[in-house]
Amino acid sequence: MGKDNDNLSSAKRAQNDEFYTQYQDIEKEMEAYLEFNSDVFRGKTILLPCDDPEWSNFTKYFAQRFTALGLKKLISTSYAANSKPAEIPYQPTLFEIASPEFDEIKTKSNGKIFTLTGDASGDGVINVNDLEWTYLKGDGDFRSEEIIELRNEADVIITNPPFSLFREFLAWIVEANKEFVIIGNMNAVTYKEVFPLIQNDKLWLGVTRTGVGSMWFEVNDNAPEKSGQRVDGEKRFQTIGNSAWFTNLDHGRRHEPLTLMSTKDNLKFNKHISPNGYQEYDNYEAIEVPRIDAIPSDYDGVMGVPITFLGKYNPEQFEILGATQRSCHDLVPDRKKYDNYVEMKPDGTPTGSSGGKTNENANLEGNDGKKNYFVNADGHQVQSAYQRIFIRHRRDNEN
Ligand SMILES: C[S@@+](CC[C@H](N)C(=O)[O-])C[C@H]1O[C@@H](n2cnc3c(N)ncnc32)[C@H](O)[C@@H]1O
Repeated sequence: MGKDNDNLSSAKRAQNDEFYTQYQDIEKEMEAYLEFNSDVFRGKTILLPCDDPEWSNFTKYFAQRFTALGLKKLISTSYAANSKPAEIPYQPTLFEIASPEFDEIKTKSNGKIFTLTGDASGDGVINVNDLEWTYLKGDGDFRSEEIIELRNEADVIITNPPFSLFREFLAWIVEANKEFVIIGNMNAVTYKEVFPLIQNDKLWLGVTRTGVGSMWFEVNDNAPEKSGQRVDGEKRFQTIGNSAWFTNLDHGRRHEPLTLMSTKDNLKFNKHISPNGYQEYDNYEAIEVPRIDAIPSDYDGVMGVPITFLGKYNPEQFEILGATQRSCHDLVPDRKKYDNYVEMKPDGTPTGSSGGKTNENANLEGNDGKKNYFVNADGHQVQSAYQRIFIRHRRDNEN
């Protein structure tokens, strides 16, 4: 039974990996890097490691723009049908069946590699028609030796990777020290494998999607029906909240400073800040700043801000010191634990949980009567703020 459940959930997870990125979303994001540096892809080999051109608009975009971007080589690999959950329908394309390479067994059991280096068709233009393909030796798993070799050959890795393997996929790129642009869920920013990369300026958010709002992906015909779907002609789309681009390619937005008001003006004009001022956390030496537009321009200490800040982060303006939870805050240590507190519902009845669950959250003294709170034997009450990132103004650039 346990095993069946395991199989079922891994099938569900894998089904959840089949979301295809729309052409215009890719185009808008890539344009932002090109606007900052028109040579960003020039002379480079791009690897798209989860991308069958039949489905992947990444392959279409880069093949179409091969000459304009000055690419050296485009490599796109796909994952074998047999390695995907059985419910995902598979039908080889007419193009594949008509090809002398076609193999009835390999079409299901092997991944494919599509390569573009020049005008293979000889029609004077370089585009998708010039992609040359063959079967891979294995199933195209990005962790396999043959895809690792392609990764090592590439300069830039770009894709929307399988959602269920995001951490592993990112680690796979980072260990090879490659440039990358990938799609993931904003929740990933506080993973203990991801946050240090953000803090050390080795990874940042892209431009057009920074975890705010939702993004539409195409799904296949027999994807489970869920809320947040729409049908457009013959295509079915699923909306996914909190999607973001993660990259280490530079872009203009991260050099635009946020325009901020002074503490005094915030207290006077910002209705999200109490006239009593910014509150210091009970367990961190930092002040709570509940909104990005309330970051005071003249405060030199540590500030806790919502994670949406990362979509506005300019590393010349701020330094990132840590994040609440997951032991990501060595530079801003928590100075208190809540194991001797208990959690209470807003109506004053205990939830049965210990205060230990709020350790490492950013906790504020008091009780607004709306949310659960934590209380100790002395009646001291705290409530936790949402996930926070700790930041401080960089003053070294100012004179
Ligand atoms: C989220 S989809 C995105 C597809 C495509 N990159 C796009 O954006 O349209 C991820 C793809 O990775 C494939 N995949 C799943 N596990 C994989 C693995 N271990 N190695 C390579 N690809 C994998 C899935 O089958 C799926 O087609």
